[in-house]
Amino acid sequence: MEGINIFENILNSKKIFKNRDVLRHSYTPDYLPHRKEQIEAIASVLVSALRGETPSNILIYGMTGTGKTATVRFVGNELEKYSLRTNTRCYMHYINCEIIDTQYRVLATLAKNLGRNVPMTGWPTDRVYEEVRYAIDKREQTVIIVLDEIDKLVKKGDDVLYSLSRINSELERSRVSLIGITNDLKFKSFLDPRVISSLSEEEILFPPYNAEQLRDILMQRAELAFYDNVLDPEVIPYCSAIAAHEHGDARKALDLLRVSGEIAEREGASRVTVDHVKKAVRKIECDNVVEAVRTLPTQNKILLFSMILLHMAGRTKFTTGEVYTVYKSLCKKVGMDVLTQRRISDLISELDMLGIINSIIISKGRYGRTREIKLDVPIDSVKKVILEDYRLQLLSKSEDTLRTHISLDLFGTAF
Ligand SMILES: Nc1ncnc2c1ncn2[C@@H]1O[C@H](COP(=O)(O)OP(=O)(O)O)[C@@H](O)[C@H]1O
Ligand SMILES: [Mg+2]
Repeated sequence: MEGINIFENILNSKKIFKNRDVLRHSYTPDYLPHRKEQIEAIASVLVSALRGETPSNILIYGMTGTGKTATVRFVGNELEKYSLRTNTRCYMHYINCEIIDTQYRVLATLAKNLGRNVPMTGWPTDRVYEEVRYAIDKREQTVIIVLDEIDKLVKKGDDVLYSLSRINSELERSRVSLIGITNDLKFKSFLDPRVISSLSEEEILFPPYNAEQLRDILMQRAELAFYDNVLDPEVIPYCSAIAAHEHGDARKALDLLRVSGEIAEREGASRVTVDHVKKAVRKIECDNVVEAVRTLPTQNKILLFSMILLHMAGRTKFTTGEVYTVYKSLCKKVGMDVLTQRRISDLISELDMLGIINSIIISKGRYGRTREIKLDVPIDSVKKVILEDYRLQLLSKSEDTLRTHISLDLFGTAF
């Protein structure tokens, strides 16, 4: 269009988001629909803190995206606000054990939050614990320690939990209570029974959300995130239905809504439609696959690269034997050990389970059975991620040679 400045054009089309950050995981809303029961359950335990008593420890569990973190943070904020007003000195210390992932660092972080100067490595753990105990007991207070994703910590031992769950007997003035949050109850089997029974004095389950509940959650956030009348009316129900299908995950639902908006914005659309949501579903799936590939072991990456080469050479489906031929020559190129065909067959099953490839077993009558493999990935992105592995850089150079090698050697013989 002539006469319109390109910047004007872009700026004019950027009228989708009022505040995109509201849709991010880190945002804690000040109202949580459909979590009244859980909020009240936590509050009725923690209220002891305001009365100068020690609250029971709580173990909170439920699948990802069921609002565990948001709810605990919300109740913590309310508690601290009320405590400030009534001068009762109750504090919540929140630690995400996925990030603070060793026993030492948990204690050191606590000590730091309590105003002690502790290095993040190097001291004996007992000494850090002593700092924590001292800092808590220096003046009367109730400290609620939240260990989110507690299963990640427990895999490395339970000493810290053991000490923290007994700390009250070593305090004169203050009180400590623990809240553990997890989406993996199996972690209990790693724990000392005494720690389990102490940690789960109270247990609170967060059930998955259904589609209607997700709709309410999205509506509330959408109001803050988007300009008025930007969302087609079907968009939120559509996102909710998809996320409800995937174990009622509010995080998925919010991601879907955000990415749909981003796609609409990038296209310069004035409204977000179901079509954008469909594109968002595909984009999120692709991103997930690319992430899954990034964390694969090198051997699996070589294997996957073999399939990519076959695919690029025009093959839509191939057998384990064909993949194995290419795989062997790639291993030689990069100087890696060649695994047996049996083992490769197992790795192919793994890739299938991760949803990176599609494979079906086909019976060939008396000739036995073969596996028919199809690639089902965003080829360019996956290739790029594989080549980021420094051990596999040579593959990028050998690509053309191999392509001819494959088309000559294999195409004549297969099928
Ligand atoms: N009841 C709710 N109301 C509003 N937002 C919610 C609700 N439950 C979850 N969310 C939002 O969904 C996302 C995931 O929730 P989160 O608390 O991180 O789940 P979990 O810790 O159970 O994995 C967060 O952005 C959170 O704000
Ligand atoms: Mg969480």
